[in-house]
Amino acid sequence: MSHVSPVPPAEDPDSPLDPAVMRAQYRTSGLREQDLAEDPYRQFARWFAEVTASGLEEPNAMVVSTADADGRPSSRTVLLKAYDERGFVFFTNYGSRKGLEIAANPYVSLLFPWHPLARQVIVAGRAERVAPEETAAYFHSRPHGSQVGALASAQSTVVGSREEIDAAYARLAARYPEGTEVPVPTEWGGLRVVPESVEFWQGRENRLHDRLRFVRAAGPGQGEEWRVERLCP
Ligand SMILES: Cc1cc2nc3c(=O)[nH]c(=O)nc-3n(C[C@H](O)[C@H](O)[C@H](O)COP(=O)(O)O)c2cc1C
Repeated sequence: MSHVSPVPPAEDPDSPLDPAVMRAQYRTSGLREQDLAEDPYRQFARWFAEVTASGLEEPNAMVVSTADADGRPSSRTVLLKAYDERGFVFFTNYGSRKGLEIAANPYVSLLFPWHPLARQVIVAGRAERVAPEETAAYFHSRPHGSQVGALASAQSTVVGSREEIDAAYARLAARYPEGTEVPVPTEWGGLRVVPESVEFWQGRENRLHDRLRFVRAAGPGQGEEWRVERLCP
């Protein structure tokens, strides 16, 4: 579907690769208004199924961007764990940098970087905490080691050494051995991003990509109505 032009071999193995010479030519049939699903969730489901079927690794990995109260942005990868008409859900530590930024400013951006299919999906919306029962159900579905790890780590805080982290893990693993219930960390849980817009980007030849954006016409809960607009590439 896409082809990356060969990068000339570097004479000196230590010389850096020049990203300016890397250029992919996208050959796809494109994305037309009449082929779009009726809402962004169904369109997302279609693309997500196609991307997963293509064998792309971690198709549910997405970049979450937040901004603090002063408008300074930060980004990181997380995993999408659920999506439906209510929004896109990921799990994290509410006391992490992203968690604190969202508490101060709930507006976030999600980006799915599906490069091998020359696609990206960009969601803009507001993040809200999921119900504690939803968090508990997901938390206890995780492997035991991941549950203990979440309990052992005050995500995003500065720590003196790796040894301190390993010691905290060992202490909690002894307290909650395999087969016992690990308590859900008080600061850990799900965030649902309720979209205000969702853009579907399909790479095409000559940089004339297709960009179709669903924009919410009515507020969430007031009946889902979406307007579709085409953006210049
Ligand atoms: C592929 C991948 C998946 C990740 N998934 C998650 C996740 O689902 N939740 C999470 O809190 N961090 C996840 N991380 C770690 C985050 O990128 C990040 O390091 C962490 O959440 C702390 O971010 P913050 O300090 O900006 O809040 C993942 C990292 C990668 C590379």
